[in-house]
Amino acid sequence: MVAKERITWRCQTCGAGAPRWVGRCGECGEFGTYVEEVESSTVLTARSASAAQAVSLAHAGAQSTARLPTGVPELDRVLGGGLVKGSLVLLGGEPGIGKSTLLLQVAQAVAESGTGVLYVCGEESPDQIGLRARRVGADAEAVSLLPELDVGAVESVVRAAKPGVVIIDSIQTAFDPDLAGAPGSVGQVRACTARLMRMAKELGVTTLIVGHVTKEGAIAGPRVLEHMVDAVLYFEGDRDHAFRIVRAVKNRFGSASEIGIFEMGEHGLSGVGSPSAGLISERTEAVSGSAVMVAVEGSRPLLVEIQALVTPSYLPTPRRLATGIETGRLLQVVAVLERRAGLSFAGQDVHVAVAGGLRISEPAVDLPLALALASALRDVAVPLDLAAFGEIGLTGHVRAVAHAEARLREAGRFGMRRVLGAQSLSAPATEECQLVGANTIQEAVGLVG
Ligand code: TYD
Ligand code: MG
Repeated sequence: MVAKERITWRCQTCGAGAPRWVGRCGECGEFGTYVEEVESSTVLTARSASAAQAVSLAHAGAQSTARLPTGVPELDRVLGGGLVKGSLVLLGGEPGIGKSTLLLQVAQAVAESGTGVLYVCGEESPDQIGLRARRVGADAEAVSLLPELDVGAVESVVRAAKPGVVIIDSIQTAFDPDLAGAPGSVGQVRACTARLMRMAKELGVTTLIVGHVTKEGAIAGPRVLEHMVDAVLYFEGDRDHAFRIVRAVKNRFGSASEIGIFEMGEHGLSGVGSPSAGLISERTEAVSGSAVMVAVEGSRPLLVEIQALVTPSYLPTPRRLATGIETGRLLQVVAVLERRAGLSFAGQDVHVAVAGGLRISEPAVDLPLALALASALRDVAVPLDLAAFGEIGLTGHVRAVAHAEARLREAGRFGMRRVLGAQSLSAPATEECQLVGANTIQEAVGLVG
């Protein structure tokens, strides 16, 4: 077959294509991101001739999917019970967050359970990996390191050695020599992933790929791959905090809302089964501007501290800064507090944060956030044994959210005696902890000051 070559221009941020150079991407609005790419039609059509076979719906998926435990329980929880044979999983995150460390620990555990692992290290030399391995106590004979960038070469090694699990660290350093473009460009990253996907399905080898993302989620990377792979996990958290979170944002074989919580220590990452105690441990005396939220992440309730600081502003437009909470949510809660509860934040800078480097996106954060803000503004502490959860509508009404019972139980376990929630909730009080209902934001903030 004669390869037909076609030149296209592709945005390195979002992957949009155009027939000619474009100064500003029409899709994502970024400037100067278009790079020339040569698409060879043989790559796209070479495999379409293989005999296609239809499968009856009655037989499809009849055998339950076999799972291979990763040996890291918190990761298994995120994956929905372990790695599915032949699946392709993308692990994204900022550089230095712990992706290589986690996968090395997975490689060790999987190898110990008798499955061969091929660790393709494009970023670091085997010696560097070796040093990290010493640190996390990984020394399995069944883990092979392969310093290789060419995915074609990786595929040949996989065909010959037949490992059960392949780890690609990272997709940004992988390249396909059939394609133009430097490693890390959108075209290369996509072509390599597509090739690894075919390999995973054809050979039944479970493949884990690492992808770097920057804080803005920019650069050619995981974002453009999300739709191609079976599962996408993101490593979040702050490099400066001990807690790291692995969150599933897509999972074809399990829930996409689970999280795994890890702590980075001297000897690698360890799972934190019950993080509540650690997350509120610094709250030993009642100070203003702090409220405890009973959050639910995935299927697990946990207590987190929401902090607020309100100070006179020296700026013409006072600051509204949120860490770990969406800024839009903060602005809305401040607006509702002003309009419905008679508090005024005029001329005040407002900073809010979730302690421990966590990110909370649940609407149930509204009520504890309102408590922390009211407490900071009035300089009156929220009682130490009071926690809260609930969504606040624009009318100032406190709305019920799901999992009230589980939240109440978790709060009780960690020393909370009262949990403030929507009036309409009907969770049975436990021995340690009772539910305090509030109808409006005004009623709720009446509890502080
Ligand atoms: P790494 O896995 O190399 O990050 P990534 O692959 O996501 O870029 O982890 C890097 C950080 O973790 C590094 O700053 C050192 C730290 N670290 C520990 O604190 N303890 C350990 O046992 C290991 C292996 C790393
Ligand atoms: Mg790494």
